[in-house]
Amino acid sequence: MSDYYAAAIIRGNARHVALAIACLLLETAAPLPSHAQTAIGAQNAVHPGGIQAAHILQLWNGTLALCLLVFVAVLGACLIAVWRAPRGTGTTEPDVGAPGAREQRLLRAVRWSAIFAAAGLISLLAGNIFTGRALAELPAENALRIELHGHSWWWEARYHDPLTAQRFATANELHLPVGRAAIITMHSDDVIHSLWVPNLHGKLDLIPGRTTEIRLRADHAGLYRGQCAEFCGLQHTMMALLVVADPPTEYARWAERQTRQAPQPPGGSIVQHGQQIFLHQCAQCHAINTPPAGAATIGPDLTHLASRQTIAAGMLPNKRGYLAGWIVDAPSIKPGVQMPAIKLAPDDLQALLAYLETLL
Ligand code: CUA
Repeated sequence: MSDYYAAAIIRGNARHVALAIACLLLETAAPLPSHAQTAIGAQNAVHPGGIQAAHILQLWNGTLALCLLVFVAVLGACLIAVWRAPRGTGTTEPDVGAPGAREQRLLRAVRWSAIFAAAGLISLLAGNIFTGRALAELPAENALRIELHGHSWWWEARYHDPLTAQRFATANELHLPVGRAAIITMHSDDVIHSLWVPNLHGKLDLIPGRTTEIRLRADHAGLYRGQCAEFCGLQHTMMALLVVADPPTEYARWAERQTRQAPQPPGGSIVQHGQQIFLHQCAQCHAINTPPAGAATIGPDLTHLASRQTIAAGMLPNKRGYLAGWIVDAPSIKPGVQMPAIKLAPDDLQALLAYLETLL
């Protein structure tokens, strides 16, 4: 449609321009295509789910109030100036005398305004510094340690633990225990990405060749949607990360399940046939922690795929139909994605889906 708008504007035909604007408004107001309707989780910086987002919200509220005050004062002063400006006519005498009491009063007002503006700027700076300190001082005793890699366009998460058996990998979905901080070290192997979970914290970049660290703590259980906040290519907007803040016991259950091995399907079953399809078609890019599947890292680790709420980095709900569509033709759903279209006979596809559904 954009060619149509451009042509209409170039032609300068008023009717076409009006029609183009109406279409644009309708398109803007219309619901997003169905594949983009998976707005799972809140993504809202003014509804803090943790102390850090609350600090940032406080700074935002203060900044907004101060700027609003300045805006109203400046606008009011402009209106008064226009309203009360002396108006001359052709016969008005030139005003060449020394400034009178009125000018002195106005000069004082300008001086006070300058002092107020400087004090306002200094208070914003102080607010920034105090907020930065408060964010950095998040207590991190007994913190969870997570390594997060940004890829074009998905998130790889590795949960660390002193015990090897307690370590596991997942993708596009972080679980955090409520009230316990997580120290997340971040890397990128391709381009700059940026982690932003507005309900929990501000943004921090993932930079190739560097390690950055962010601390997150969710104080309220809930689903929070994170988003890559640095333009990183064609599917930048479809690079979401779901953060699930669980009560500690629920988190412990989830983490324990994530450390388990994927189940071996019973011999001769459709699920076992699906596993064979997986090994031939998917295992070059995706890992599953049970032999004979390998530890490929090109795509997300699928050991516990069925436990996740979304696929394709938060783009689609993790339901059989969406998963089937994604396997068969990912590039048409998410153009530019590395995952190729996979041609499968209907029976093979059903078997593969049956296998993937066992990966809880
Ligand atoms: Cu990754 Cu934008």
